[in-house]
Amino acid sequence: MKTIYFAAASLDGYIADKNDSLEWLFKNGPADLSFIKSFMDGIGALAMGASTYEWLLSYNNKNNEPWPYKIPCLVFTHRKLNPVEGADIRFVQGDVGPHHKELVRLANGKNVWLVGGGELVGLFHDQGLLDEMQIQTVAVFLNEGKKLFSRRTETAFKIKQINQRGDTCVDVVYSVK
Ligand SMILES: NC(=O)c1ccc[n+]([C@@H]2O[C@H](COP(=O)([O-])OP(=O)(O)OC[C@H]3O[C@@H](n4cnc5c(N)ncnc54)[C@H](OP(=O)(O)O)[C@@H]3O)[C@@H](O)[C@H]2O)c1
Repeated sequence: MKTIYFAAASLDGYIADKNDSLEWLFKNGPADLSFIKSFMDGIGALAMGASTYEWLLSYNNKNNEPWPYKIPCLVFTHRKLNPVEGADIRFVQGDVGPHHKELVRLANGKNVWLVGGGELVGLFHDQGLLDEMQIQTVAVFLNEGKKLFSRRTETAFKIKQINQRGDTCVDVVYSVK
């Protein structure tokens, strides 16, 4: 069982533009997204920050799409956000350590997916709770936006696997040193 940060980023290390939009990814990212389904098959629980949750809800509302996950999802927030009817969404806050224990329990032997953003994932890494990152780097510069990983100190990883996805994306699995 592993805790994995799985996300797409621009060449300059942003996961969303300054307005929280993922249009750059839809426009420039790989056309074949079957690798996401393979990744999801191994996941038993996921966690995300409030901005990611709010972006996902507004995207689903706009596109008339349902909540995409059938597994438990922890949403980190200090606010009272609206849940999605029928979805297993749990709002939590504070120290990520105890919440990670709960994620592992909920995942029931499968992997835990940290959806993002970069500050939240950094909090897990600070406590030695991040095992791997699988990052799809898309060949586009955004020049500004939401950071892939926000830490003040140097944070190094090892490359475990590399896959090319079409002609605009390289998908790399990094393990924590
Ligand atoms: N390209 C990709 O693969 C990818 C992946 C993930 C996300 N994204 C995008 O990236 C953008 C969001 O990233 P982000 O880094 O700005 O935000 P984020 O991590 O989704 O959300 C940050 C917010 O989460 C809450 N939070 C974080 N840690 C907390 C804690 N320990 N306790 C309580 N609340 C906590 C706080 O919200 P409050 O204090 O307001 O409650 C904080 O402002 C979104 O647009 C999303 O769609 C892209």
